[in-house]
Amino acid sequence: MPVCVVIGAQWGDEGKGAMVDLLAKEADIVVRFQGGANAGHTIIYQERPLALHLIPAGIAHDHTICVIGNGVVVDPQALLNEMEQLRSVGLVVSPERLKISDRAHLTLPYHRILDAAREMAGSHLRLGTTRRGVGPTYVDKVDRVGLRVGDLRYPNRLEEKLLINWEQKRAFFNALPPEERPDFHAVLDELMRYAEFLQPYIADTVSWLNEQVAAGKRVLLEGAQGTGLDVDFGTYPFVTSSNTTAGGAATGSGIPPTKINAVLGIAKAYTTRVGEGPFPTELQGEEQVALREKGREYGATTGRPRRCGWFDAVLVRYAAMVNGFTALALTKLDVLSYFPEVKLCVAYRWRGEVLTHFPSEVCVLEEAEPIYETLPGWDVPLGQCRSWDQLPANAQRFVERLQEVVGVPIATISVGPEREAVFSLPNAPSLW
Ligand code: GDP
Ligand code: IMO
Ligand code: MG
Repeated sequence: MPVCVVIGAQWGDEGKGAMVDLLAKEADIVVRFQGGANAGHTIIYQERPLALHLIPAGIAHDHTICVIGNGVVVDPQALLNEMEQLRSVGLVVSPERLKISDRAHLTLPYHRILDAAREMAGSHLRLGTTRRGVGPTYVDKVDRVGLRVGDLRYPNRLEEKLLINWEQKRAFFNALPPEERPDFHAVLDELMRYAEFLQPYIADTVSWLNEQVAAGKRVLLEGAQGTGLDVDFGTYPFVTSSNTTAGGAATGSGIPPTKINAVLGIAKAYTTRVGEGPFPTELQGEEQVALREKGREYGATTGRPRRCGWFDAVLVRYAAMVNGFTALALTKLDVLSYFPEVKLCVAYRWRGEVLTHFPSEVCVLEEAEPIYETLPGWDVPLGQCRSWDQLPANAQRFVERLQEVVGVPIATISVGPEREAVFSLPNAPSLW
């Protein structure tokens, strides 16, 4: 049963895209199972960074079939733009190579307006979303008024479905200035155009994927965002609107949990976060700037500067628990070169107590102070290292200690964004 899930262990942007691109070499199928165009997964293609938002990061290999699973919310315009962009660099995005679940929900043009309106309604509501309409689309899904990709197959029913969705938002639309108010018939026409264009890509991916799994095909399930942003397990309400954790891989693809045999956690050698919300190990001032610039920590979707801090083992240990990581891939270790000291947060101090478990309440996390272990740094670049033995002793010590405090075997380490800049550890557990 070669089905493997790839999950972000922190607050997103751990390097999932690069790792999926590497692993896809040995996969037949790559599936996105949640999130939407809020994701930005960077791969290096023809020596240039390429950011993927909806299409799985396996697309850069000719032999893979990519699937946008039922748990994803699909903005058709964003998808068309992405297809164009991929084609412009020479990638083939055909219905043979890309299947979109008929059960996936559609982000409608006004979901972005709703997302932005909420963000601007007042500081108490502000989450720092990507404003891609992802939250409002999931709201409609759970409220049972959403439109699904499969609805595009029945154009004569679209008007009726759109009307149900529209009615529910009428009061909101009426409160908008007239020039910003969406027009029902314009939205319907837009949907009709998408219907025509996307028709060949729409498939019953749930049945198809299960047939492929039964036939022994290797399937990679590509998570978006990270455990800290999971709607149940993350720093609620400062989260995204889907289950980013391993359970979501089953519900978002239709592949049952009993068919999943590995869960690879992706963790950066430090921590970043975009948007609002608690972040116990966040650095301040020049230290934060130094880490951001060395790691080039700017959002792949919105370009926003990412907040940066030291590695938080409390968070990653918790991620290992709720996801059941069978192994960890540690990324961006190269970024930590030249810091005189490197730090690992092993617990939090909160009102005189030592917390070793990740708390559920934001108010606790906001007051939690990191308890650090400080290790000596290393003064050499790591970008050219291609094996464990080539790492300087202090970098090895850092990785070994990190592995110990997280309690999951580290299978691979990456020291650069390229496919080649990754190596396995001695005795690493095999993924498949
Ligand atoms: P994702 O959302 O988890 O796929 O991550 P992003 O693509 O948003 O952010 C990760 C960034 O780090 C991208 O710019 C990658 O090209 C880059 N990257 C990935 N792995 C490494 C690494 O090991 N070292 C360095 N320096 N950059 C990396
Ligand atoms: P990848 O897949 C980092 C964050 C936003 C915001 C919160 C809610 O590239 O790791 P949303 O638009 O989802 O309603 O925003 O979640 N966020 C991400 N942060 N990486 C991502 O994706 C993210 N997708 C959403 O910044 O704090
Ligand atoms: Mg990203």
